Amino acid sequence: MLIRKRPSWHISENHATDEAVYLSRRQWLKTAGIAGVGLSSGLLNSAAFSAPITGFPAKRNTAYTIDRDITAEVDATTYTNFYEFGSAKNIWRKAQKLNTDPWMVTIDGLCDNPMTIDAADLIKKMGDMEERLYRHRCVEAWAMTVPWTGVPLANLLKLASPKPEAKYLVMETFLDPSVAPGQKQSWYPWPYVEGLRLDEAANELSFLATGLYGREMPKQNGAPIRLVVPWKYGFKSIKSIVKFHFAKEAPLSFWQETAGNEYGFYANVNPGVPHKRWRQDTERLLGTNERVRTQMFNGYQEQVAHLYEGMPHNILYF
Ligand code: MTE
Repeated sequence: MLIRKRPSWHISENHATDEAVYLSRRQWLKTAGIAGVGLSSGLLNSAAFSAPITGFPAKRNTAYTIDRDITAEVDATTYTNFYEFGSAKNIWRKAQKLNTDPWMVTIDGLCDNPMTIDAADLIKKMGDMEERLYRHRCVEAWAMTVPWTGVPLANLLKLASPKPEAKYLVMETFLDPSVAPGQKQSWYPWPYVEGLRLDEAANELSFLATGLYGREMPKQNGAPIRLVVPWKYGFKSIKSIVKFHFAKEAPLSFWQETAGNEYGFYANVNPGVPHKRWRQDTERLLGTNERVRTQMFNGYQEQVAHLYEGMPHNILYF
């Protein structure tokens, strides 16, 4: 995935907000008597403090269980891709600097019900959370199987009510180089952007995840809400989303803009189509030395193959 090797940004671990500092901030807000109250101006912005997303652990939806061992939690949460915090896999400590409280999300563009809303309120409006076991296949040929908590992305479409002209859902990650040192690397086109065709977004598998392993989402895995589209290479599953935008045209995604000859818009998993620099027919299971065969659409052919009928294969699988 790494495209250009430059002197990497380093933030020393003691720069990350540690729990004591974080707790004292909450304690301060509580002592000041403003916990849970949105202030309209002044010292803090209009949504200075919000309720956390609740409902963990959520009930497992047994329609989405699979015949692979679940990846150890420690592996899924310490081997992560989150370029905002650097291109190494072990950036989980750096990601603790991300402040997810409050977390405002904007829904705009071609829809009847645009809004700017706190993440927890947005989730509440989308119905009960559930847990699903999905395979995750990174374009770098490693894979994991994890229990995600969240809500179907289709519920966001219902809430926003896209206009008939809207054909794509464009999603954007936060932009704040003061907490995310990777965003000071100006050769990347920040903020991270991804998109889905609206029928892909409405597919039953498309999921807005709020948690992992029965708990709220760790920051390094994309707190407080991220996309999970398990039939596509992992880079489509955008983390820490702040914006959902309904558009007529497909966006140019972060990786397309970074290296358009290696990463396309659809990025559907296909073991028969190698990446420009490596094969894609097998994958390493995270936390093990085991390699297994990669499956067409990552094993989700039944649910998604119909979305691409009649389309030229050369645009669907890279
Ligand atoms: N989202 C953002 N904003 N930034 C990223 O660097 N990396 C992607 C995807 N979403 C990424 C992102 C890639 S390449 C993968 S494989 C998955 O997140 C990794 O998810 P995980 O770290 O939770 O396993």
